[in-house]
Amino acid sequence: MAIKDIVTWQKSYSVNIPLIDVQHMELINLTNKLYRSCMNGRDNSKEMFMTVLRGAIDYVGYHFSTEEKVMERVAYPGYGNHKQEHNTFVLDVLKSVDNLAKTDKYNPLAFVTYLKDWVLTHIAVSDKELGQYLLGLKKQGTLQNITLRVKQVSNRFVLE
Ligand SMILES: [Fe+2]
Repeated sequence: MAIKDIVTWQKSYSVNIPLIDVQHMELINLTNKLYRSCMNGRDNSKEMFMTVLRGAIDYVGYHFSTEEKVMERVAYPGYGNHKQEHNTFVLDVLKSVDNLAKTDKYNPLAFVTYLKDWVLTHIAVSDKELGQYLLGLKKQGTLQNITLRVKQVSNRFVLE
């Protein structure tokens, strides 16, 4: 039987910048991928899980830097707090990864549940606030004046 996703994308998560929305969709995909890899129960599941996890952490770093660049460019008033949330999350995750790698009492499901809750809350609350701010700029017609051009670097899209 196929393993169900633990989190799904909702239209209401949109932050009004397609580049960020697409990255959030990918974060949700990665969370589901981690979930599946910890539910498959194979002998090599720990190595597999750690490999997927390292890829996910790399993607999170790329995503946070995109969001921070957008916030800086639009002089977002909540930038400091939002960046702090990102930093705290990265530190927590790195600590957990270190623990997971070392311990015999390896509990990937608890960790994936924590990731899912963080990603959902962060997108639904903090990123949504940013989205509302960007929508306001869009309505005023000032968002177009801020350069948000995108270019492709290897397989990723980054802001110019
Ligand atoms: Fe964010």
